[in-house]
Amino acid sequence: MQTFPSRQPTQGTCDPHQPHEDLRLRYRYLDLRRPVLSNNLHKRSKVAHIVRSTLHDNDFVEVETPILLKSTPEGAREFLVPTRLSSTANARSSSHPLFYALPQSPQQPKQLLIASGAVDRYYQIARCFRDEDGRKDRQPEFTQIDLEMAWVSWGNQYAADAGVWRIGGKEVKEVIETLIRRIWSTIEGVELPEEFRVMTYAEAMNRFGSDKPDVRFGLEARLSQTDDIVEALVDAPRQQYSLSGSAGLLSDYDVQRAVANAIELQKGDTIWVAKRSRIPQGGSTTLGRLRLSLSAIAQSLGTLSLPTDPHFLWVTEFPLFTRADSDKDFLTRGRWGSSHHPFTAPMWEDIEKMYSGQVYEVRGQHYDLVLNGTEIGGGSVRVHDANMQEYIFSEILQLSNSERSSFDHLLHALRCGAPPHGGIALGFDRLMAILCKAESIRDVIAFPKTGAGTDLLFRSPAPASSPDILQQYGIEQQRS
Ligand code: AMO
Repeated sequence: MQTFPSRQPTQGTCDPHQPHEDLRLRYRYLDLRRPVLSNNLHKRSKVAHIVRSTLHDNDFVEVETPILLKSTPEGAREFLVPTRLSSTANARSSSHPLFYALPQSPQQPKQLLIASGAVDRYYQIARCFRDEDGRKDRQPEFTQIDLEMAWVSWGNQYAADAGVWRIGGKEVKEVIETLIRRIWSTIEGVELPEEFRVMTYAEAMNRFGSDKPDVRFGLEARLSQTDDIVEALVDAPRQQYSLSGSAGLLSDYDVQRAVANAIELQKGDTIWVAKRSRIPQGGSTTLGRLRLSLSAIAQSLGTLSLPTDPHFLWVTEFPLFTRADSDKDFLTRGRWGSSHHPFTAPMWEDIEKMYSGQVYEVRGQHYDLVLNGTEIGGGSVRVHDANMQEYIFSEILQLSNSERSSFDHLLHALRCGAPPHGGIALGFDRLMAILCKAESIRDVIAFPKTGAGTDLLFRSPAPASSPDILQQYGIEQQRS
């Protein structure tokens, strides 16, 4: 076995002298001796304390919601939990095992809570569970700073005096900005601006090719100039082009000159042109991904260094419905899906379009909070009109009867009268990873899973220890 560095300072998680991360995860109780990791845990606790005290100061009530819930087609893949109730409580269903589902987020409980009128401002530091493919900034179980408010406003307005967009759910925006400002002031000693920048999804996609643009670096000036060209060539096949001689679409001399003049091209420069639909879709474009690659290359060559101060950005006015989210294909199966979740309200300007079938063009009152190119939060103003919610379920998302009936309680609650409401959830692990300048969200979680979703310390997931156990749950083991 490899030995671990004892309680001495180390230089962070990329240290080539450290054992492989899998080994460190297996012996996490030893790895946690490294000050860099234990400092992260201390900082996390401190931030959780700031969150609680700030939200309490703003009249939020902390409420716990169930962990054992029911599976509903909200967006993410869920974990199912079998229960012995299947074979004991209900004799008729003994041949059908019953399952709870772990919450992908407390979305429905928090809306029902507000609809009940028991609290007007809810929050929770909530555990969430999603059985999705692992990525650098994803864990199958993670934590959200989750909140919901009654009486949030609808619609976007431009406040000419302040020169800023006030997004739908501006009360949510204000609370989150207050919270973030307090965290940065206490933890980092940095005073953030009174109002964070707001950008529409369309602008983010057109100028940066991303719905979570990293606005810290200035390639956008050049990329935005090329946007005109991308627009002009929208029907052209994608190709790489350089002035020093390329065939194909841009071989036309006039087009070459127009391109060269528009972006002041010098001999030897290379430009990239990519085809995309006129209405942007999905989370990024070819040029947006290229922009990030160019920035990574420039940083590694030392020709670009990113500012260290945090660049917060609200992205809003996302398309309400999408067919371009491959993570939701398992659910939508060729139907429309919700960009955020099915409870998000359309922008009031687009309600008519929604009812007249111009589904592509409907924008949602959905806002994401982006920090230095990472999505650290997402939320929306909700549908509080039962008829509109029913229309979205049945006519747009085309849910089957059984899918739709899994939301009956929500429709009933709205019918009983619910105030306009909205909320947001911040990804606590992602936020902490940025505050701790950690490479991965695993470095800010005491006992994380691997990128593949396995727990090397407790060795899970694991098969049931014996077929008898499965039998108790009414589950039969498949014979191979
Ligand atoms: P959403 O799905 O956008 O919204 O999630 C909110 C934030 O949670 C974080 N996050 C994750 N962090 C780590 N691992 C994951 N697998 C993971 N998935 C999401 C992200 C994201 O921005 N109920 C809605 C919120 C609302 O509408 O109020 C929701 O969960 O930082």
